[in-house]
Amino acid sequence: MALVPVNDLLFKADKEGYAVGAFNANNMEIVQAIVEAAEQENSPVIMQASQGAIKYAGLEYITGMVTIAAKAANIPVALHLDHGTDFEQVIKCIRSGFSSVMYDGSKLPLEENIAMTNKVLEIARPINVSVEAELGKIGGTEDDVHVADKDATFTDPNEAKYFVEKTGIESLAIAIGTAHGQYKGEPKLDFERLEKIKNLIKIPIVLHGSSGVPDEAIQKSIKLGICKVNIDTNIREVFVNEMKKVVSEKTSEIDPRKILGPAKEATVELIREKMRVFGSSNKA
Ligand code: G3H
Ligand code: 13P
Ligand code: ZN
Repeated sequence: MALVPVNDLLFKADKEGYAVGAFNANNMEIVQAIVEAAEQENSPVIMQASQGAIKYAGLEYITGMVTIAAKAANIPVALHLDHGTDFEQVIKCIRSGFSSVMYDGSKLPLEENIAMTNKVLEIARPINVSVEAELGKIGGTEDDVHVADKDATFTDPNEAKYFVEKTGIESLAIAIGTAHGQYKGEPKLDFERLEKIKNLIKIPIVLHGSSGVPDEAIQKSIKLGICKVNIDTNIREVFVNEMKKVVSEKTSEIDPRKILGPAKEATVELIREKMRVFGSSNKA
């Protein structure tokens, strides 16, 4: 199948009460693992690449790998830019064939965030490329965006309403207590705030920093309006832990395929589990 716009996947998820997983990919094995898991679960899937992933693998490789994987798949696959903070980079991704981009203006003053988001929408909308915006600061380390935990501020529901009115954005990432990376303690999500935001804006809402959030909290967020759940850190953990296990058990192994292959298989299992938690299995 050709790549599909993220909005198509999120509108269906919103209507039917589940969330689509958005999984970060940095290399071929992770791309393959994400699509294999989605096929096995018969689930729609969003593959996302950060600016850092693009710097590492190259834009053409990322677009090429995901396009090839999607073409061979029987489930809908979207390719999304994660945390695009650089307008030029966002445009390059659209030109390269991404079906969706995130314009992350969360570090900007509100009116500048609105103006930049509108600039991206003006280009993306006529060619049916989806756009995700961010309002509020999600704690932790984002790609090229280092937000100290203490500076992280939650999304204001009325500001979210204003932002949607001024942009017509169709999906919004919000800050309600999740953070990127590994949590030190258990994250406490502000469900009341999420409910207020959803009642005011009615569009699919995106949860970032979802690795390490207990399954029950993720499922409660989905009931309250989360339609896209971003997972990166859990993939890194599973992939690298499996590589380390193989390397320590087979100290003389020199074939990368024998090290990366099991890491890929472990990633498939992780992603399948996530899809079941998000309720997207059999929703392709
Ligand atoms: O939200 C950020 C993602 O985890 C991407 O991280 O910039 O290190 O690729 P990265
Ligand atoms: P985690 O790394 O915490 O899973 O967050 C992923 C994310 O939000 C990507 O945008
Ligand atoms: Zn994020």
